[in-house]
Order: sequence, then structure tokens, then C-alpha cells
Amino acid sequence: MLTKKMEKALNEQINKEMWSAYLYLSMAAYFEDNNLPGFANWMRVQYQEEMTHGMKIFDYINDRGGRVLLKPIKEVPTEWADTHTVIEETLKHERVVTESINDLVNLAVQEKDHATNNMLQWFVGEQVEEEANADELLNKVKMTDGKAHALMMIDKELAGRQFVDETQQQ
Ligand code: FEO
Repeated sequence: MLTKKMEKALNEQINKEMWSAYLYLSMAAYFEDNNLPGFANWMRVQYQEEMTHGMKIFDYINDRGGRVLLKPIKEVPTEWADTHTVIEETLKHERVVTESINDLVNLAVQEKDHATNNMLQWFVGEQVEEEANADELLNKVKMTDGKAHALMMIDKELAGRQFVDETQQQ
């Protein structure tokens, strides 16, 4: 059984993951509008990943006999100054998510909930990857120095990113 405190915190994390999905979908729309289909694809994959993150917690709450309670998803930004800003915001956001996961792990330890702690360790590992991916992309974008040709080359590369449901891999 999940404690009420743990259940509430996990439900909040579902909302954060769904908000993240919505944020990245908004970024995909921004890139579509700015004729950068590769960047849009990268964000779409990001959106799909976030949905699976939310669903991993959704399934976990149910497996533990808890109750999933979905809350409204707050509005997300729709405009950014430029590509560099979008990717910078992506990295910043992933760092916030990492803090949120760390808080959940701390709560699981406090509640002596080893099963939840174990489940959350998947997210601890995932966040290392999420931050590294955003950081790598930010460095690439920085190197373009705002030059359109260099940006187009990155765009081509990002068009190849494919979604893999990593929540199904242990
Ligand atoms: Fe669900 Fe991008 O972390």
C-alpha cells in the first residue's frame, strides 16, 4: 500500500510529466512554424517520452492499489526568442524535473517505501540521460553562433531521432 502522502506526490508527478509532454509539444509546434522540422521531430520524440514517464507512474500507482487522480494541466509557453532559447529552456526544465524526482526519492525514504524508491531509481537514471541529451543539443546550437546554414545541418541530424519506449526496458 502507498501512504497517502506518497500517493499524492506521485499523482503530482504524473501531472508534471504530462505538463512536460505538453511543453515539448508546444516547442515542436514552434519549430514547425519556424521551418525546422528536425528540431520539431526531436521535440515530438521528447513529448512521447514524457507521456510514457507519466504512464509509468500511472501504472505504478494502480499496481500498488492506489488511486490515480488527474488534475488540469497548466498552460505552457508558446513563443520563444530563438532556437537557442528553446533548447536552453529545455535543459533548465529537465534540471527542475530532476529536483522533483530527487524530492520523491527523499519522500519514499522518509516513508520507508522501498518499492516506490526502487521504481523511482529508473527515473533517477533517466534524468541523467535527459539532462545530457539537452546539454549536448544546447552545445551544438551554441556552436552554430546563430548561422542559418549550421542550424540547418543540425536540423537534418535531429530529423533522424526516433522514439523508443524506454519505460519498457529495465
Ligand atoms: Fe520526464 Fe524529461 O523527464
